[in-house]
Amino acid sequence: MSPVREPAPSAGDPAAARARGDRPAVRNEVLRDGRLAGIEPALLADRFGTPAYVYDLDVVTGQAEALLAALPARFDLAYAVKANPNLAVLRHLAAMGLGADVASGGELRHVLRAGLDPAHVVMTGPGKRDEELAAAIEAGLRAVTVESVGELRRLAHLAEGLGRPQRVLLRAAVADAARLERVRLVGDDGAGKFGMDLRDLRVAAGEAVASPWLEPIGLHAFGASNVTDPEALAAHVEATVRTARTLATEVGFELRLVDAGGGLGIPYEEHEAELDLAALGARLAALSARMEADPATRGARLLLEPGRFLVGPAGAYLARVLERKEVGGRQVAILDGGIHHALRPALVGQQHRVRVLTGSGAGAGAVPGRLPVTVAGPLCTGLDVFVRAAVMAPPDPGDLVAVLDVGAYGATESMPLFLSHAMPPEVAVRGGEAWAARPRIDPDTWLGWQVGEPGGSQG
Ligand SMILES: Cc1ncc(COP(=O)(O)O)c(C=O)c1O
Repeated sequence: MSPVREPAPSAGDPAAARARGDRPAVRNEVLRDGRLAGIEPALLADRFGTPAYVYDLDVVTGQAEALLAALPARFDLAYAVKANPNLAVLRHLAAMGLGADVASGGELRHVLRAGLDPAHVVMTGPGKRDEELAAAIEAGLRAVTVESVGELRRLAHLAEGLGRPQRVLLRAAVADAARLERVRLVGDDGAGKFGMDLRDLRVAAGEAVASPWLEPIGLHAFGASNVTDPEALAAHVEATVRTARTLATEVGFELRLVDAGGGLGIPYEEHEAELDLAALGARLAALSARMEADPATRGARLLLEPGRFLVGPAGAYLARVLERKEVGGRQVAILDGGIHHALRPALVGQQHRVRVLTGSGAGAGAVPGRLPVTVAGPLCTGLDVFVRAAVMAPPDPGDLVAVLDVGAYGATESMPLFLSHAMPPEVAVRGGEAWAARPRIDPDTWLGWQVGEPGGSQG
């Protein structure tokens, strides 16, 4: 597979600038000149209501093109669907030629419905049910990443039952992948729940080589999430290649694919910097050249599974201020949506950038000046806070507010059932055209599914 790449960029166009490593003057993000995805926020709010997710697919294009332009031709991209499984996002990335990384049977069915070529899809995840593995085999995926010897055996058994051999990647627990090569990998291996240690990697590779139903093609190792240091990212890819080479030569299979996972980071807080793609690309180009010179790695392709980098900056959570009050001398704005829809700030303790879009936020409000403001949601928990004491013009009731950088791990990583508010719609925008890529879901839908007594009926 090879994702559609831009034609060789000419000097002066944005792709050329990115390929040269110039910093774009304007950050590639959903909020530009007070507009969301190029549209007046009030128009979006009138048409789709608040709160709402807004995804700018042109920003997704920009992120994907910038990454593709920076990477050597040996790299393929498989979008990590878990970051944002919205169909509009999937279709958009698929049209650009990207593959996908799925982590469940539901995600697999979704990408197939979205029209992705199964030969561009990989499946990864620490606990896959038999039916999910069988669906992957039947679909003819590019590779299934196995995370334990037990899973490898189940996969072989299922492949035999279906009469269809399956290509496999073996997932290394990053700590052990590092030990094998005596290198330091960035990474949190989730207290051992991901991948296999060195002993099991060797057992799994040996069994895969011996099985007529499995075809071992390489190694998978995920480093760490949200890494914006290009040196750390490149070191992880290099170490994964070295480990894959050692394993393949030791056990005796042809190395065809090295999957270094996702983890490419984006800035969230005001002071954070963007990932330097030119620096990352330069080091990966050197790696690719070394692979070309080595017969054991020459034929191997490299795969990255970015999620956050591709879609994170493309998404905003648009909400309206319900109330503003002063509590203990501090301004507090309460929105009509909160962390039940955008859990990440509470989950990882990181404040997202919050921008006031209309009315007093522009500086003409009832409380003049820029003051520390806490922006919170309507939930009955102290966790429901987007920013604490952020210095801004205090917004008035009725003003619109955008929580930025929620295109990845936003809607999909939240807890929309808490307090039984409506689920916000997901609005996609491309070239200035907006549509409800998923409509608002009324709480009476899921509350109505409940059954209060044995033999009772729903609703
Ligand atoms: C196996 C795998 N690949 C890719 C990703 C995507 O990571 P990111 O969104 O940080 O690029 C994840 C995230 O958890 C993952 O578990």
